[in-house]
Amino acid sequence: MSNSYEIIDHVHDVIVVGAGGAGLRATLGMTAAGLDTACITKVFPTRSHTVAAQGGIGAALGNMQDDSWQWHMYDTVKGADWLGDQDAIEYMCREAVPAVHELEHFGVPFSRTEEGKIYQRPFGGHMRDFGEAPVERACAAADRTGHAILHTLYQQCMKHNAEFFIEYFAIDLIMDSEGACRGVMAWNLADGTMHRFLAHQTVMATGGYGRSYFSCTSAHTCTGDGNGMVLRAGLPMEDMEFVQFHPTGIYGSGCLITEGARGEGGYLTNSEGEAFMERYAPSAKDLASRDVVSRSMTVEIREKRGVGVDGDHIFLHLEHLGAEVLSQRLPGITETAKIFSGVDATKDPIPVLPTVHYNMGGIPTNYHGEVLRPTSSNPDAVCPGLMAIGEAACVSVHGANRLGTNSLLDIVVFGRAAALRAVEIVDKNKAVKAADPKTGEIAIERFDKLRHANGSQKTADVRIGMQRIMQNNAAVFRTSEVLKEGVELIDKSAENLKDLSVSDQSLIWNSDLVETLELENLMACAKATMYSAEARHESRGAHAHEDYPDRDDKNWMKHTLAWVDEKWNVKLDYRPVHEYTLTDEVEYITPRARVY
Ligand code: FUM
Repeated sequence: MSNSYEIIDHVHDVIVVGAGGAGLRATLGMTAAGLDTACITKVFPTRSHTVAAQGGIGAALGNMQDDSWQWHMYDTVKGADWLGDQDAIEYMCREAVPAVHELEHFGVPFSRTEEGKIYQRPFGGHMRDFGEAPVERACAAADRTGHAILHTLYQQCMKHNAEFFIEYFAIDLIMDSEGACRGVMAWNLADGTMHRFLAHQTVMATGGYGRSYFSCTSAHTCTGDGNGMVLRAGLPMEDMEFVQFHPTGIYGSGCLITEGARGEGGYLTNSEGEAFMERYAPSAKDLASRDVVSRSMTVEIREKRGVGVDGDHIFLHLEHLGAEVLSQRLPGITETAKIFSGVDATKDPIPVLPTVHYNMGGIPTNYHGEVLRPTSSNPDAVCPGLMAIGEAACVSVHGANRLGTNSLLDIVVFGRAAALRAVEIVDKNKAVKAADPKTGEIAIERFDKLRHANGSQKTADVRIGMQRIMQNNAAVFRTSEVLKEGVELIDKSAENLKDLSVSDQSLIWNSDLVETLELENLMACAKATMYSAEARHESRGAHAHEDYPDRDDKNWMKHTLAWVDEKWNVKLDYRPVHEYTLTDEVEYITPRARVY
């Protein structure tokens, strides 16, 4: 079958799949260090979803008031509800300060204080003095921080002549008989050719899978492609039950209104005009961790204090901040509110609702970005030749709930860490093992089968079915009954994949085929998420289980591992959380009650 496709071969030291912030930071570091690096991306780099990140990147610069990376580490561990690996969290928070200075030197146009320092604003869950009171830690470029970082990193990649393969869709990993990764097969969307990329290291930087849900802040491109490829290679995902709902997606469209809006003094009210967060988080109020705020909003709506004709959303007030602050600090969301809710934020509150925003779970890695293939004797064993970074990965620095601004931080810190590791372990003088004609054949067979699928189900119909199941059965609050039903429904939904019909067999700009490949990736993520959620009998971070309302450290302080096989069966196992730090400069932060 594969003979009908002509394959174009490429050999590099490293292949990076994905050109968001993580992929670009890795590509830059690897190229600048002299590794022959190819970056493959399904969209033009500056259209990657990092462009949508708004409020800031977390780093304890202390530009506005005292701050320390140890406080940042404490907040991240607490925000993660003690499911994060503290060695990796120490690494990220410690590296945050030089990482942001490095971005500044690369040319990121940060907003400035009167003295010319990088401007910082408060953000949910970021506190001073080990949780005492909110601190200004989010380094911001107005409310377009991701946009500024993404464009700057791409410019830096251009400066170093990094090699890009743009609008190439990565289909599957190439794995050898010993279980090592040797590269990736990709389809050039523009001319229909097939490409076999071989390398010493392959880096998954493909982003999250927000589009497995009906309503999310994620771009339509966030389809868990790397996660799907890694699952098909027989490797597990980690902690997929932890899906973050951002408190302020615009009601109806799901577009993001940055938490930075509350950082600048915005607040939420219910139908009684009450600023209700004071009741749920007396100290941090509207700047409590996002899972806490999203749950509080949901309780208000359930208890019939939602706003609007149907009482099904909440108001976010920014009017009191004044037009000048809004145009200087929050110009993007002022415009977004106008376009997507018809509201002039200088005069009226914005209708908002918790909306799927981020996947804490993903491909398990260590803090160097190396992908784990845990065994019973070694839960930290590494899969040779494979790395993962950014939202596709689970390092795990976000544990059960990520703090806002720690995603931009994650992508630059671990993008850089992956580059440093690649430079250490790649021997440029050693030839990449040559391909035989069968290399990559499995990927082509799967591709060809989907291309010619002639069943009775349309991709778009199966996708919307899956999205509704995820929205209804793996939501902000979960129960055993709803999750059990979710498992049954998602199993049925995945069955439809055997009966798909792809209307167009063309190899050039075939969006039906692209969406079908994406759907398989989304479904693999959806199944891993639902099964992992159903199995976790406790409440922790973003996983709020009403039948098990408490965190259970004795039985559940462990990472979930989920495998999805070629018949769509899911298998679960667990690996220990790293209950140790990276250095002796900080002590392990013992679990305690999580109050804001
Ligand atoms: O609210 C925001 O600006 C989002 C930031 C984040 O998710 O880190």
